[in-house]
Amino acid sequence: MALEPKEESDTIKLGIPQSTDASAVHLLIQNSPPLDTNSLYCNLLQTSHFAKTAIVAKMNNDVVGFVSGYIKPEQPDTYFLWQVVVGEAARGRGLAKRMITALFQRDHFANVRWLETTITPDNKASQRLFESLAEGWQAHIDVRVLFEKEAHFAGQHESEELYRIGPVNP
Ligand SMILES: CC(C)(COP(=O)(O)OP(=O)(O)OC[C@H]1O[C@@H](n2cnc3c(N)ncnc32)[C@H](O)[C@@H]1OP(=O)(O)O)[C@@H](O)C(=O)NCCC(=O)NCCS
Repeated sequence: MALEPKEESDTIKLGIPQSTDASAVHLLIQNSPPLDTNSLYCNLLQTSHFAKTAIVAKMNNDVVGFVSGYIKPEQPDTYFLWQVVVGEAARGRGLAKRMITALFQRDHFANVRWLETTITPDNKASQRLFESLAEGWQAHIDVRVLFEKEAHFAGQHESEELYRIGPVNP
């Protein structure tokens, strides 16, 4: 794991993930409802081709947090955050916020001004996380439905609301 330039003072270390982290990431997501599990192959792509736009948190070499996402191909000023997960034991100490903030401090994010993610209306923890980030950045949040329950999920999944936050200046 390549460490972030500014290593945090406690024992949780943040870094650019490697493909060998994918199976632990897969397990962490599996154990973190209400997140949708993706295939392990998908996690392999996130931790290899998309590693610069992902971040892993490790405590004693165990994966305890992960953020995946990508810079939108047609909108290079916008980072789309796919999933954020923190293992139960590491929650409530600011790790999710730390990981997202560290991503935006990378050179790779120099031209990124907007953060987008989707959240289901019942996910209060995630809503609070992104509201808190926006407050810290003194940025606005726009919310609109991106993927609708019936039209996109054939009624099998709640609607996903798009949160667009910015301009971001961490
Ligand atoms: C959502 C999740 C990533 C938060 O991780 P975390 O490291 O505990 O979050 P943080 O400590 O950075 O908290 C960030 C803010 O969210 C708030 N928050 C975190 N969990 C919360 C909860 N369960 N209920 C209400 N607010 C919550 C914190 O109080 C904090 O707000 P503050 O800055 O005003 O104090 C974690 O609970 C998780 O992985 N959940 C399961 C997966 C999931 O739902 N992911 C998001 C959808 S992609």
